[in-house]
Amino acid sequence: MKRYVAGEKHAVAFTLNGRERQGWCEPRMLLSDFLRQQLGATGTHVGCEHGVCGACTVLINDEPARACLTLAVQAEGARVDTVEGLHDGAGGLNDLQQAFRRHHALQCGFCTSGILMSCEAFLRHTPCPDEKQVREMLSGHLCRCTGYAGIVKAILEVAASRREASHA
Ligand code: FES
Ligand code: FES
Repeated sequence: MKRYVAGEKHAVAFTLNGRERQGWCEPRMLLSDFLRQQLGATGTHVGCEHGVCGACTVLINDEPARACLTLAVQAEGARVDTVEGLHDGAGGLNDLQQAFRRHHALQCGFCTSGILMSCEAFLRHTPCPDEKQVREMLSGHLCRCTGYAGIVKAILEVAASRREASHA
């Protein structure tokens, strides 16, 4: 196991949105800061910095994680996915992002990248969610603007259309 020394900079490497990336940081650096400051991946937002608001949510090895509660060195060798990696395969918005736009599921957008990442994992585990399940998942995210109604609509719509596509 790699040994980290407080105050010293260490190389940290992981796969970010399908590409090998590397940077240097002290062991105390948060993954959220590493993504934004070292790798320029500023789509991951930082709100509360203590695990409450969900704005910093990323996927680590396909599971949602608070980047503000994860040390960058803990991501060594992992697969990290952030909002920058979402697309429709041709460089455009993916179906979930398009549904958010259609249903006015964002206003300032500060919470959105974290919610989108949680949703991607949620819909993989729960392809047939009901409204209660969607709202439970969203309870891990604070949105100050939307009142959540548009977000819930967008997620339910995408769940239905992905189900349809998988049966086609
Ligand atoms: S910034 Fe990480 S949960 Fe709020
Ligand atoms: S859209 Fe502003 S906080 Fe959610």
